[in-house]
Amino acid sequence: MMLSQRVRTIEPSATLGLNAIIQKLRADGRDIVNFSVGEPDFDTPEFIRAAGIAAIEGGQTRYTPVPGTPDLRRAVAEFVGAERGVEVAPEEVVICSGAKQALTEAFLALCDPGDEVLLPAPYWVSYPDEIRLAEATPVVVTPPEESRFRITPEHLEPHVTPRTAGLIINSPSNPTGILYDAEEIAALVDFAEAHDLWIISDEIYERFVFSGSLASPFSGKGRERTILISGLSKSFACTGWRLGWAVGDPSIIGGMSRLQGHTASNACTISQYAALAAVREPRHPDLDAMIEAFAERREVALKRLGEIEGLDTVNPEGAFYLYVDFRRFLASGEATTSFCESLLDEKGVATVPGEAFGTPGWVRLSYARSIEEIERGISLIADHLKVR
Ligand SMILES: Cc1ncc(COP(=O)(O)O)c(C=O)c1O
Repeated sequence: MMLSQRVRTIEPSATLGLNAIIQKLRADGRDIVNFSVGEPDFDTPEFIRAAGIAAIEGGQTRYTPVPGTPDLRRAVAEFVGAERGVEVAPEEVVICSGAKQALTEAFLALCDPGDEVLLPAPYWVSYPDEIRLAEATPVVVTPPEESRFRITPEHLEPHVTPRTAGLIINSPSNPTGILYDAEEIAALVDFAEAHDLWIISDEIYERFVFSGSLASPFSGKGRERTILISGLSKSFACTGWRLGWAVGDPSIIGGMSRLQGHTASNACTISQYAALAAVREPRHPDLDAMIEAFAERREVALKRLGEIEGLDTVNPEGAFYLYVDFRRFLASGEATTSFCESLLDEKGVATVPGEAFGTPGWVRLSYARSIEEIERGISLIADHLKVR
């Protein structure tokens, strides 16, 4: 017996190796400052938990329609419509087990084997493998250094071929925290229109916006060609509830639902009821308080990092990551992965190396940690760099 070609092409998650080291160090009694986390450290707010508990107690524990309960599809349509300033119909919404599943279904629904998908680097770790699962090819486009990782049509244009089918936009971005403004998004939409590409717009960090405001290709001219992806995980502190959605053209959404009908059926029923409470109150004080706490952490982290000479950080307008250039501290030929391993081993600070995001030399630090940990972790990094 042999693994299929499809599965053989999938890379194991780049962060798994690091996690194994973290677990081992913790088991040995080491105190680890974990800047590698990709989730809010806040508990799910009480009003969302209560809705989940009420669903269990009220007997909402059976299958729902594949694309989600009619109430939740309507509520997500209203939430997305209100936030993006457009009308959205419930038939344009499919509820999935997390944004990850929504993305995977979207690529499967949109790509034929051999199609190409433009993927700006640095990119979130799972996109290349999700695209490859659909037997399509991720075409990684790294903007030139001076553009500070902000992708423009000029960078993408040389990579367009007759097989190019789509473009991924992830704003606010994991790992850089880049947030594209309305003008930048409009230019990317024009580019997609000129080449008749669809756009996958991953807006999972939609509430983590610290300067400027969220601009979505779904809001304007790009609406027809955009599949918007988001969910509860980050903005509602609900990573474990596994609840996300895709919104867009009803025929694509219908295709994704057909796929889901034979794979996952519906997203967890209890989580769907929790989601209903969440999206009906997206500005709940508990959520606002979480975002404020992140704004404060961001300030502290940026200030402390700024005190270390030789480090350069991409301006983090959104999400909860800092993407930092460590190249001045790497020995010639040294992989960022081994630098991050030594930082973890010697100083107990966990970070994610840029190789995972397609840009070696850079390191991602998540500031989803307490202020005390942020300060301690960054001074440990400073100590580590002194001996380099
Ligand atoms: C950019 C991006 N998209 C999607 C996801 C997946 O989110 P979910 O938990 O909803 O599957 C993540 C999680 O790390 C992410 O960073």
